[in-house]
Amino acid sequence: MVMSIFQAVVTYVSLLWFVRLSEGFPDPAQRDLLMRQEASRQTGGRVALTEAEQMLDLHLHQLKEQEMSAALFPPAVHFFKAKPLIQKSPIFKLLQDMPKGAALHIHTSSLVGVEWLVKNITYRPHCYICFTWDNSVRFLFSDRQPFPRWDCFYWQLLETLRARIGNTEGFDNSLMQHLTLFTEDPDGEYPSQEVVWEKFEKAFIAAAGLISHAPVLTDYFYRGLEELLQDNIMYLELRSGLSRTYELDGSIHDKVWALKTFQEVTRTFKEDHPDFLGARIIISVHRALSVSEVKAAVKEAIQLQKDFPDVVAGFDMVGREDSGRTLWYFRDALSLPAEMGVTLPYFFHAGETDEEGTDVDQNLMDALLFNTTRIGHGFALAHHPLAKELSRKRNVAVELCPISNQVLKLVSDLRNHPAAVLMSEGHPMVISSDDPSLFGTTGLSYDFYEAFVGIGGLKANLGTLKELALNSIRYSSLPAHLKDTGVVMWQRKWDAFIFKHT
Ligand SMILES: *[C@@H]1O[C@H](CO)[C@@H](O)[C@H](O)[C@H]1NC(C)=O
Ligand SMILES: *[C@@H]1O[C@H](CO)[C@@H](O)[C@H](O)[C@H]1NC(C)=O
Ligand SMILES: [Zn+2]
Repeated sequence: MVMSIFQAVVTYVSLLWFVRLSEGFPDPAQRDLLMRQEASRQTGGRVALTEAEQMLDLHLHQLKEQEMSAALFPPAVHFFKAKPLIQKSPIFKLLQDMPKGAALHIHTSSLVGVEWLVKNITYRPHCYICFTWDNSVRFLFSDRQPFPRWDCFYWQLLETLRARIGNTEGFDNSLMQHLTLFTEDPDGEYPSQEVVWEKFEKAFIAAAGLISHAPVLTDYFYRGLEELLQDNIMYLELRSGLSRTYELDGSIHDKVWALKTFQEVTRTFKEDHPDFLGARIIISVHRALSVSEVKAAVKEAIQLQKDFPDVVAGFDMVGREDSGRTLWYFRDALSLPAEMGVTLPYFFHAGETDEEGTDVDQNLMDALLFNTTRIGHGFALAHHPLAKELSRKRNVAVELCPISNQVLKLVSDLRNHPAAVLMSEGHPMVISSDDPSLFGTTGLSYDFYEAFVGIGGLKANLGTLKELALNSIRYSSLPAHLKDTGVVMWQRKWDAFIFKHT
């Protein structure tokens, strides 16, 4: 993977030699060699392509050139505006068809598209709605009129309300607006990171009443896996707080119930779809909690991982980094596993920030010091040479979520995403979607498009795609034998994909 010192010396000496020999301009053969050596460092740069793959690669290259020369280059504009363009792109259609491996960074509350939530879930009986003073909504399934509570003093049965309103199409669209960030005018509606994050948190809370209804959660998980499989994804690691679920009569289920439900749904789904590999949970708690609350959560996660080793992959802290507490703030909680002599793999969000040099910006190094298995986002990693080196040396992959970073306003033109540096160096990396329903995406194809066409540029090729897909299995939390199974399953799909498109 790394050029030997001998090779490097030979290259250097021969470079001097050629430069001296040729008058005026550098030797073309030498130039060509250097170009190829540099390209070989990028993600997928050392992947050997078969003849058929080379044909498809050539085709992709031509398509990319066309897209780059079009009047409007999708990765350069906000995804909400680019989405219809991307849907028409032949590259995107290929990416949809491509077996992409695993989705390793998705949050439960935004796993399933809002269309289904509104058109299916809110049409179920006993669904109440209430409009809050801050222009948000709450949902609650209940077998009787719910009591008023601090944020909601007037609950209406949705069925009754819809009958009274008549224009259900318009009404349903307005409900969807509450559950997603998607809008025609992103720049006007979200002038700053603060504003977009505020809407983000609101949408989460609005969806919670629907998803945490116990019978809904079961269908929700199943539907989420369906949407992924439809986009040719075969495995999922889902970040989830395993929040409490409720029944119609108000009775409550605990985290163990949610885990068992997830396990059961995954099993059923695999029976129905033998080409799906499985799904696991990364238990996540909010960084707004106190140290003692996080201590309790870590202890609980240790126990849950012991009881459900096949389902629980590890632990993470979620919520906006910039306004939340740092990993270092929670050091007494996060060091508990090491002190207790047990392992609890970490999958920390870190470096999802543009506030360079702040305490938050130190999360990257701290995540690595706490032996994180992967880094969620790592947007700031390119600015931390030592953390970057450590991450590479320890094979700690970055979970790149381009659309999330753009919508949450860390970068506007995706060609300028700092991960372009990581990609050009072949840094360990996987592509994911973070919060698909909030961003109006489904599966991973949209994020693959942005990474492949926008961040990777013209030089990212089929080898890049192949490596990114394989990385998602390689850097998953699966035990070695399941990774092997996954790679075999993936290769079969990949061969069929190449065959179909050449
Ligand atoms: C709602 O989703 C369930 C599966 O989760 C499905 O069986 C049912 O047919 C759907 N109903 C409607 C009205 O779409
Ligand atoms: C991280 O891993 C190293 C090496 O295995 C170990 O010595 C150290 O205690 C671990 N740190 C934490 C915080 O778990
Ligand atoms: Zn995330």
